Amino acid sequence: MNNILEVKNLNKVFEIKKFLKKSLSLKALSDVNFTLGQNVTLGIVGESGCGKSTLAKVLTQLEIETSGEIELLGKKYKDYKPREFHSLIQMVFQDPYQSLNPRKKAFDIIADPLRINTDKSEEEIRELVYSMMKKVGLRAEFAQRYPHHFSGGQRQRLGIARALMLRPRVLILDEPVSALDVSIQAQVLNLLLDLQKEFSLSYIFISHDLSVIQHISDKILVMYLGRIVEYGPRDEIFLNPKHPYTKILLESAPTLTVGKQTKEIPESAKGEIPSALYLPKGCAFSPRCPMVTPECLQAIPELLNKDNRLVACFNA
Ligand SMILES: Nc1ncnc2c1ncn2[C@@H]1O[C@H](COP(=O)(O)OP(=O)(O)OP(=O)(O)O)[C@@H](O)[C@H]1O
Ligand SMILES: [Mg+2]
Repeated sequence: MNNILEVKNLNKVFEIKKFLKKSLSLKALSDVNFTLGQNVTLGIVGESGCGKSTLAKVLTQLEIETSGEIELLGKKYKDYKPREFHSLIQMVFQDPYQSLNPRKKAFDIIADPLRINTDKSEEEIRELVYSMMKKVGLRAEFAQRYPHHFSGGQRQRLGIARALMLRPRVLILDEPVSALDVSIQAQVLNLLLDLQKEFSLSYIFISHDLSVIQHISDKILVMYLGRIVEYGPRDEIFLNPKHPYTKILLESAPTLTVGKQTKEIPESAKGEIPSALYLPKGCAFSPRCPMVTPECLQAIPELLNKDNRLVACFNA
């Protein structure tokens, strides 16, 4: 069995309650299917509101799916005990400051997952905490400091240390470097690459920054309004995108190193990103798509194999 994660027909609907009106259903994830291999980094891209964080939260069960099934190491999520589940899959957030308890010292922040989930002695825990601090590049004297004494990069290292204490197999990283200065971003990304090798980790890495995604990912998953529109190996997606949305996304990114000139977003693709609350009939991208044809307005294109990747487009 090579897959660490297997996501099957995942759907997440949020019911939006309107005062005195009937509630509206927001489809944040629609029929999401993918697998994550061992030691692989899957980069997830797509505009704001396309469901990236919702996917991250469902994968870590901070949100529960509306329907569908997820398997971790060949075992269904619902068959896991919480302790075992949380030791295998962990999340790293964009702003470590919000996710780290400000009243706790770094030592305790890193030690808590072991205290809560294992029967290790304080002596063993002490050794493991200092060893992990070293691995993530935090000096031992930082152990007695509080999060607000740390720089942004150091705080993210602290968040990563905590996430790794139970030796998970998967880390879900939701915009983990977006809040950091560019020079610090590179250090944290390189740390993540080193840790991936050392601990045989699989990453799901969410970022707005396509150059970061290109740097760190083996595979790329492109989302549009809750659906996967293209999924495949990094270089296929970056050098030879097939879905019109992927093309627009890449062409509008100024910092990319794909050897192309920066282009203007086509007029038809500008305008407001439609909301997942009011999905158009047919392909959700059709109102913005420069290649739209009548069938796009009638049916939702399936995600099909084409040129070494999966793509959901009638005209790709
Ligand atoms: N708890 C919630 N209740 C209702 N709607 C929600 C909830 N969480 C997310 N949504 C909606 O689900 C959709 C997907 O949101 P999500 O946060 O997953 O997007 P995202 O891709 O992470 O965006 P961003 O790039 O801005 O972080 C959005 O329309 C959002 O408003
Ligand atoms: Mg998000």
